[in-house]
Amino acid sequence: MVTKKTGTAAAPSSSSPKQPPLNATGKGRPTVSISSAMTLADWIIWHYKDAASYLTQLHERSSAKHSNPSPSRSSSLISYSTATSSSSSASLQHLRNRAGSDAAASDADSGASSDSDQSSSARSTSWRGISSIMPTPSHISASRPPTTAFDVDFIPNPDDPYSLRHSEYGYDVDPAHRTVSQHTPGMSLRASDEEPSVWVYLQTYLSCPSASLVSDARDADAKERGKLTPRFSLSLDAVLMIIGHLRDWVGKRLFPAAYSHLRPSNGYAPLFSDFDSFYTRRLKLRIEDCFARPVTGVAGRTATCLDRTPTNHFADFVFTGETTQALNVSSYNYLGFAQSRGPCADEAESIVKEMGVTTAGARNDVGTSALHIQAERLVADFVGAEDAMIVSMGFATNSTNLPALVSKGCLVISDELNHSSIRFGARLSGAMVRQYKHNDMDDLENLLREVISQGQPRTHRPWKKILIIVEGLYSMEGTLVDLPRLLELKDVYKFYLYVDEAHSIGALGPRGRGVCDYFGIDPRRVDILMAFGAAGGYIAGSHELISALRLSSHAQNYAESMSPVVLAQICTSMGSIVGPDAIKIVPALGKLPPHVMDGRDGQDRLRRLAFNCRYLSGGLRKLGFIVYGHQDSPIVPMLIFAPAKMGLFSRLMLDRYKIVVVVVAYPATPLVSSRVRFCLSAAHTKADLDRILRATDEIGGILGLKLSPHGPRMKVDQVIAEGVEMVRESERDYERAVLALENGSNSKTEA
Ligand SMILES: Cc1ncc(COP(=O)(O)O)c(C=O)c1O
Repeated sequence: MVTKKTGTAAAPSSSSPKQPPLNATGKGRPTVSISSAMTLADWIIWHYKDAASYLTQLHERSSAKHSNPSPSRSSSLISYSTATSSSSSASLQHLRNRAGSDAAASDADSGASSDSDQSSSARSTSWRGISSIMPTPSHISASRPPTTAFDVDFIPNPDDPYSLRHSEYGYDVDPAHRTVSQHTPGMSLRASDEEPSVWVYLQTYLSCPSASLVSDARDADAKERGKLTPRFSLSLDAVLMIIGHLRDWVGKRLFPAAYSHLRPSNGYAPLFSDFDSFYTRRLKLRIEDCFARPVTGVAGRTATCLDRTPTNHFADFVFTGETTQALNVSSYNYLGFAQSRGPCADEAESIVKEMGVTTAGARNDVGTSALHIQAERLVADFVGAEDAMIVSMGFATNSTNLPALVSKGCLVISDELNHSSIRFGARLSGAMVRQYKHNDMDDLENLLREVISQGQPRTHRPWKKILIIVEGLYSMEGTLVDLPRLLELKDVYKFYLYVDEAHSIGALGPRGRGVCDYFGIDPRRVDILMAFGAAGGYIAGSHELISALRLSSHAQNYAESMSPVVLAQICTSMGSIVGPDAIKIVPALGKLPPHVMDGRDGQDRLRRLAFNCRYLSGGLRKLGFIVYGHQDSPIVPMLIFAPAKMGLFSRLMLDRYKIVVVVVAYPATPLVSSRVRFCLSAAHTKADLDRILRATDEIGGILGLKLSPHGPRMKVDQVIAEGVEMVRESERDYERAVLALENGSNSKTEA
């Protein structure tokens, strides 16, 4: 069905994601060997030179060793065949020159002149770490098709103007690849019940290289496949830290000028001398290429990364002018509405012609249009609240509205893992802030008893009001708030409840209405609901609450109102989920074709996302990885532990499998629990998920990440073969649990 377009790198079809093993050295197999080539000297090079070029050297070494590459290799997806990573130092220089000339070309376009690399670096963009001008999208697409494993322009139904582009929204019509996102009664919502043991942490940081050598040397096959060296090299995070501290200690004494920002000088206190500074310079910098990857085009099912080469020990990057199209599991595109074709994009385009891109004013000045009012009504209707208010930025929705809700004399109780916009808003408000253990309702209840009995500090007067703030879905942990228990506590202790649904609205619940929908709870039992659409956020609640906020919120008085383009995207996407009723609220939606506005498209997206979540998180668990969070979470965090492994995981996923992932570590997570977060979307197909499973199985296996104590483990082929059935089994669990509940309540009534 899928027609393959010939790309720069001839690649197997995306529907056959099986990849050659990472370090396979057998005859007729790919020859990229990391393990056999890596020695202590290599590790030192790794430490002092940039890791990407080191990987390149390894590749070249292994290619030289296996001078007869198999035919499969030349047609493989392995990224070492891309221009960036297959370059030797000479070709690296060539790339730099080329990047310089790209820079010159783009400068010439804008009337500036540029002669050399040096001058282009001197004019580097304001974005720190980029020493060549970023290629513009037209500049890229004009001359260089991306290196890709995907069908860039495949459109399943070219005659239909609403047909979706496969590279943005995957074509998968199999009804078996759908399920419903709903809470199975009795299922645990406790956070991190897969917390790794202390032994896992110790092994990650302190394992002795020689011990790894001995154990793996016994297993010839393991040695051949390369388990040995990554463990060896990566168990040295602790060593990196020690060396880093030593370098700082020596540097401050021998080279005071170079370290002036870290020590008191000229009577000034050091600007950066804390652990964050140390971590950034000595650890994070070495894997800088894994963060803030620049992309171009639509960040949909696939994303097109602008290739860049690290220079100056990762302090700078040079754009090579090439691009790589990769499977995108790093965007918050849960329902897959990030598209350049289809009703949302068309509506956004037509609204620009009608209203321009901005209202050029705050809501309480002249920044309110009819579209704002319609969108707010639609949002209120969607979440089941009386009224809603839209803010142009998600962060500001929390940080500017919390101070309008609480002030001195009030108490804010916040989950310890709440987003920084919530913490920031709570602090700005002047209210007292207390925290409870993540999603631990017993801890919350103890805290409530304490704070209510004690009242305000010193005076012991009762609190003016108590506001508890939680997130519907925690994006670093993948945990769902224990809403049923929280509402029981609310009934007893009478506090106000604020739920930030940034990651749950649209992503959870049979109708996509977020956590209330997921648990089958009336949304009016929650006082304040917050979330976002394409960008920005909303506050939903009672008429009284929203009317008061419209007057007092800084976002309404001092911030630019939401752009009509974003409003159009929100109305169209929400409308396609709500169905024909949405037309009564936003009449313009009536011009969209029936198959968009009858709600089928939206429902299908919800069901695809729900399937993808269960399939991937279940599959990774069966492979033996430690996966945090709930089975229905669209963010699947998988533990990597050590920051160094994080870098390798991210690079190898992109280089070898063309999958772009988000890795997160300190300070977003504790240093010892660095992780990769697979951000799933309705746009992903089952074949995409299988590709992720195979890639993670291989790379994660080599990096020693299969550390889950829960068994039994399965082989990746078995996981893929039985994955759909596992999802069906979870549906049967739901039916059994509901039946048991009904029987229980019937027998209670009879008694
Ligand atoms: C829970 C939560 N609230 C608020 C925000 C801020 O939203 P925005 O990125 O639109 O400013 C985020 C961002 O990811 C978030 O995760």
